[in-house]
Amino acid sequence: MPKIAYVNGRYLPHRDAAVHVEDRGYQFADGVYEVCEVARGYIIDMTPHLDRLDRSLSELKIGWPMSRSSLQTVMREVISRNGVVNGLVYLQVTRGVAPRDHVFPAAHTRPSLVITAKKSSPQAATKRAETGIKVITVPENRWERVDIKSVGLLPNVLARQKAKEAGAQEAWFVDPDGTVKEGAATNVWIVTKDGRLKTRPAESGILKGITRATVMRVAEKLGLEVEERGFTVDEAKSAREAFITAATTLVMPVVEIDGQPVANGHPGSVALSLRRAFFDVAEKIAA
Ligand code: PDD
Repeated sequence: MPKIAYVNGRYLPHRDAAVHVEDRGYQFADGVYEVCEVARGYIIDMTPHLDRLDRSLSELKIGWPMSRSSLQTVMREVISRNGVVNGLVYLQVTRGVAPRDHVFPAAHTRPSLVITAKKSSPQAATKRAETGIKVITVPENRWERVDIKSVGLLPNVLARQKAKEAGAQEAWFVDPDGTVKEGAATNVWIVTKDGRLKTRPAESGILKGITRATVMRVAEKLGLEVEERGFTVDEAKSAREAFITAATTLVMPVVEIDGQPVANGHPGSVALSLRRAFFDVAEKIAA
């Protein structure tokens, strides 16, 4: 099955799918994106993902490229044309195509929309969760508006690359006072010695993850206490468990931070139970 992408009104084979050289996403990273998981033929948490897209767009004063219901139709179409039953759907909206100029283009400029979908293996993800991942820490160097899901991800790209070069899978951004912010593309959690879940409040300094919000409801269902409170790298290193959340990873145990094992160096039972119960709580809309 050839890979198909949606680009500004057309479904195109991947090799022909391209945006204009003067797309503001390409020139200025003037755009936003969302990634939704597709699991067993359902789009996971589509409503909150599109709500967050709406917020990101309005914070940047970019219009919707089409109505919300049409966008959902295109998402489904891209998922189906790519035969994705398990995987991800990616959507990106930019301020559109206009002669290069930092100020906003003319009001009639149409936002650009790109939607792609790809398959992933749930078995491989489960296997990874059974082993857990390693993370490194890096100094926070991003702008303040990380609450906007902007495609301007250069610090995140550099951090993830640094993690890879260190043999790790994620990098955590850390403030000068040692407080953990979030991962390059994930939110961060720990389980304290007395069994409470801790994750940084989403009011500032991090992206308000959709998976994070769902995991809070999963925790409640499992009778676990969640505290929205920041924690330091040292606290994370001496925690009972650590894990990350994102649409791309769900709940993924962290077994090593900067080369030091978390607890016994194996995935924790809380993270694994949250992962198992995730789909009982998440929104599932047929793709
Ligand atoms: N990243 N923090 C950052 C910086 C992120 O980029 C992401 C998601 C998250 C988790 O958000 P959510 O639970 O809504 O996926 C937190 C996506 C998956 C990505 O860039 O691929």
